[in-house]
Amino acid sequence: MSTGAEGGPAAVGTGAEADAALAKLVLDLSPNGVLVTDASGRIRGCNPALGRMVPLVPDPLGRTPLDALPLPAVAEALDPRREGECELPLHIGTRDLLVRVVPFGVGGGRLCIFQDVSRLRQAERYRQEFVANVSHELRTPATAIAGFAETLLQDPALLAPEAVGMVETILRNGRRLTALFDDLLHLARLDAMDTPPPLTELQLLPIVEELIDKHGPQAAERKIQLERSVSPGLWVRGHADALHHLLGNLVSNAIKYSDAGGLVLIRARPRHNGVIIEIVDNGVGIDPIHHERIFERFYRVDKGRARSAGGTGLGLAIVKHLAKAMKAKVEVRSRPERGSTFRVWIAGGDAPPT
Ligand SMILES: Nc1ncnc2c1ncn2[C@@H]1O[C@H](COP(=O)(O)OP(=O)(O)OP(=O)(O)O)[C@@H](O)[C@H]1O
Ligand SMILES: [Mg+2]
Repeated sequence: MSTGAEGGPAAVGTGAEADAALAKLVLDLSPNGVLVTDASGRIRGCNPALGRMVPLVPDPLGRTPLDALPLPAVAEALDPRREGECELPLHIGTRDLLVRVVPFGVGGGRLCIFQDVSRLRQAERYRQEFVANVSHELRTPATAIAGFAETLLQDPALLAPEAVGMVETILRNGRRLTALFDDLLHLARLDAMDTPPPLTELQLLPIVEELIDKHGPQAAERKIQLERSVSPGLWVRGHADALHHLLGNLVSNAIKYSDAGGLVLIRARPRHNGVIIEIVDNGVGIDPIHHERIFERFYRVDKGRARSAGGTGLGLAIVKHLAKAMKAKVEVRSRPERGSTFRVWIAGGDAPPT
């Protein structure tokens, strides 16, 4: 470990001294910045890469992280009273850094590794832009296809009877494409969002009632009962559109993956400093082996059923993003043929917010 000066390759033999020389050589040549603090929270060592990544004083050893680096978030993460590991994204100049802090040695020492992830982030940004641009460009013709198919079906004089079935297929697929591009655009916007949406206190009951109105026809068409159990005083801290979209995706899934005669219930109750909102169905259910993966983009459990139900596999990926943006959490409990419960934990309560 050096004090931040460039170290050249050294001869390495065997024994304790050689081990120390090898450790120093590895650290000196590491492309990642490394910083070690002791139990008193002072800097015990760092390597040359650190000085190239962050503004570091020339003599950091023995100082506190706050004295040595103008990075209060890192200093806070290195506080010996803090427990466990953490990860911090940092943006310094033109660089994107990922900082990992792990306990090191006894009594509160910390090892802090700074990794330059600028190229990775750049590649992610290119991918997001590409998806957003392609979806935007393709959405326009898909809307036109669906729109003209709808017009043709509305006027029997325009269509020979034997063409009706074909135009209905065009309309169904045109709508599916439009919905897919809308979801892709929505995800791309969420990915690109630098700052989270502003969160405000929202009364939950009107949002749930709106959801029931909106999804009532879908439920009625599938002969599914849609009910709610939400007390009038409940409020949550969220973003109205985001919450509506999140819950709407869960309700739509609950209806889609239930059979005729099923029941879908939207219920909510206060819990600690928050509110639990649950969307419960008694539909087809999901084997636990799929529980983690259903939140991935394009992942569907039963592709045949999902396709016939009109799904593309983006709904729950959007739900996950929206929950994160509102500092909420989504969990699933489900067993095949025993129905599913999607649970949303969000800040809120049943007493008026202070
Ligand atoms: N309530 C549910 N009951 C049973 N399976 C579900 C339920 N919700 C989601 N799933 C399963 O998880 C998969 C992913 O859901 P997701 O909402 O992401 O996609 P989708 O509904 O297939 O398509 P999209 O929402 O994009 O129209 C679904 O295909 C389905 O297999
Ligand atoms: Mg869905």
